[in-house]
Amino acid sequence: MVIDMVKMPPEVQEVINKQSPVPVATADPDGKPNVVFVGFLRIVDDETIQIADNFFDKTAANMEANPQVSIVGYDGKKSFQVKGRVEIVTEGPVYEDVKAWVHAKSKALPAKAAVVMHVEEVYDAMYGPDAGKRIT
Ligand SMILES: Cc1cc2nc3c(=O)[nH]c(=O)nc-3n(C[C@H](O)[C@H](O)[C@H](O)COP(=O)(O)O)c2cc1C
Repeated sequence: MVIDMVKMPPEVQEVINKQSPVPVATADPDGKPNVVFVGFLRIVDDETIQIADNFFDKTAANMEANPQVSIVGYDGKKSFQVKGRVEIVTEGPVYEDVKAWVHAKSKALPAKAAVVMHVEEVYDAMYGPDAGKRIT
């Protein structure tokens, strides 16, 4: 997979870290959009976000068919939209790490997969003059 990764600036990471639950948007192969709330979402480095799939249904099918996702955060002062591509990981150290994070909250959660989002685009999503402008 060829991915044009970009780095999330610190202020973007701060806003996403404070957003909970995080809206996660996907699209099916016909372009029909789908959005869900996600509690298990964390930034692991400047370019990478991990999401735990516990209950994804349309979201999982969409990610399989079309890896492009978008999330948005708002902290009362700033808002950012982050887009990227996901990999679905169901074994190995990354999966085990995500499973441990989920099971630390509740052993009852299925931790079906780790979704690794590689950040490709970041936009200002605050109302005002910079609304919609690409940041990275
Ligand atoms: C507050 C909240 C947090 C949620 N967190 C997660 C999560 O971390 N992982 C997950 O797989 N589903 C989570 N869900 C469930 C999804 O939002 C959604 O119900 C599920 O993906 C099925 O919808 P879909 O068919 O559109 O994928 C959460 C739901 C709510 C309301």
